[in-house]
Amino acid sequence: MSERIEIIAGDITRQNVDAIVNAANCSLLGGGGVDGAIHRAAGPELLAECRSLNGCETGKAKITRGYRLPAKFVIHTPGPVWHGGSRGEEALLASCYRSCLELASANGCRTIDFPSISTGVYHFPLEKASRIAVGVIAGYLAEHPEIERARMVCFDGRTEEHYKKALAELEVRL
Ligand code: APR
Repeated sequence: MSERIEIIAGDITRQNVDAIVNAANCSLLGGGGVDGAIHRAAGPELLAECRSLNGCETGKAKITRGYRLPAKFVIHTPGPVWHGGSRGEEALLASCYRSCLELASANGCRTIDFPSISTGVYHFPLEKASRIAVGVIAGYLAEHPEIERARMVCFDGRTEEHYKKALAELEVRL
């Protein structure tokens, strides 16, 4: 099953897949980082649809169309801000990945690309985040053949290294 998980370097706004995931904030009204990049590439209609969603809780996810993006859908999920690990951050991050995959399945998405949720502005430690992400994705794909492929799209080399290491460690355990 781990062959259905890929780690690539790239810009998630350019990926021609069924769904890309946006590391959003609870307002769903855009921001910096990957959120800003996705809104810029999708165009103003994305924000208009997001306004109708009335925000989203941390760890949950909501889906919109992709508009000018090559991706059909955008799945928005607010990741947890890292406060040292004592406020359930790890469980919330796991919930982000699971919520996005559940929405992808429910909307007939067979390919889904993720950014490294919470490891930018939200300061979630990359080593922990990559293990959580790969673990949740692998666990979900093992039970859900309808998801053909999930990719982590890494925006810099350090992120890519951590996700590749996390996937390699998982494959050893499988
Ligand atoms: N493609 C893929 N990954 C990207 C892109 C892109 N075009 N742009 C940035 N990234 C990467 C960052 O390098 C980081 O590895 O996305 C990861 C997540 O970083 P952030 O975008 O800062 O997201 P996060 O840490 O979850 O913080 C979310 O930032 O932009 C605001 O509105 C957003 O308030 C929310 C907060």
